[in-house]
Amino acid sequence: MTAENGPRRNDGQAAAAGPASSRVAGWPGANGQGTRQNSVPALAVTDASIAFGPLRAVDRMSFQLDPGGMLGLIGPNGAGKTTMFNLIAGSLKPDSGTIAIGGVPVQSEAASRRISRGLARTFQIPRPFAGMTVLENMLTAPQGQTGERLLGNLVRLKDVRRQERAAVERAEELLEFLQLSRLAGEEARVLSGGQRKLLELGRAMMAEPQIILLDEPAAGVNPSLLDFIIDRIAAINARGITVLLIEHNMDMIKRLCGRVLVMASGRLLAEGAPQDVSRDPAVIEAYLGGAPA
Ligand SMILES: Nc1ncnc2c1ncn2[C@@H]1O[C@H](COP(=O)(O)OP(=O)(O)O)[C@@H](O)[C@H]1O
Ligand SMILES: [Mg+2]
Repeated sequence: MTAENGPRRNDGQAAAAGPASSRVAGWPGANGQGTRQNSVPALAVTDASIAFGPLRAVDRMSFQLDPGGMLGLIGPNGAGKTTMFNLIAGSLKPDSGTIAIGGVPVQSEAASRRISRGLARTFQIPRPFAGMTVLENMLTAPQGQTGERLLGNLVRLKDVRRQERAAVERAEELLEFLQLSRLAGEEARVLSGGQRKLLELGRAMMAEPQIILLDEPAAGVNPSLLDFIIDRIAAINARGITVLLIEHNMDMIKRLCGRVLVMASGRLLAEGAPQDVSRDPAVIEAYLGGAPA
């Protein structure tokens, strides 16, 4: 563990990153963005729904996540967790309801616009470009404000070059942070499952996000890498980045999150401390009645 007291549990409510928790070894350079100390939620989902034919994949979901918070999202397979991420990130549009980032409704905005608002996500199944190097994979990741600026008409070559250099530097710092530096020049096809998850995390961090959505970052990861992934997520959150974490690994959820949402059949079934919701009969029933977790 690199954080002084190991990963700190975060209740998903408070703006938690204090000066001590910011001193995390291996963090790739401060970007000057501290935790925002205001009452506007980093993310607010209100009555969001989407159906695929008769299937209500997300059914009137509402929750909020404060700046700097870390919130778990659990539930049996098919509960609608990834679909919820797709609604937040903009790869799907809700049939009804709103999604607000920093108080701004974004449910009609393109995914790329949401990235420029500071939202990043990882995918449940990482699909790196197998024939490209690890570093090249980092450089093809969506980039937040940089990409936005590049859309301007009067972009000077000098500025483009400066941004490219900055992107390479950021990618190298992140690979160091994720202990992937020695693989930077290797094709992504050589990576293990856990290393792919780390690369996926690095690609999301390239956008310098304020909010990061992590879809099962520990799925299929070798136990030897699990502690490291938990530690890196804690370090990212300790920098003030708001985290929403989908994960089946309850040990990981308990170590990282003070608060967790439970989804089942598209709905919010329960919400609370991980140790409490895991004893909730309705939650146990949902897991037993649904597909195995
Ligand atoms: N694009 C889609 N079209 C049709 N059905 C979908 C689509 N995406 C997800 N589903 C269905 O919605 C339900 C929720 O899926 P998902 O959000 O992936 O669940 P989870 O991530 O909780 O395992 C599942 O029944 C799934 O088959
Ligand atoms: Mg899923």
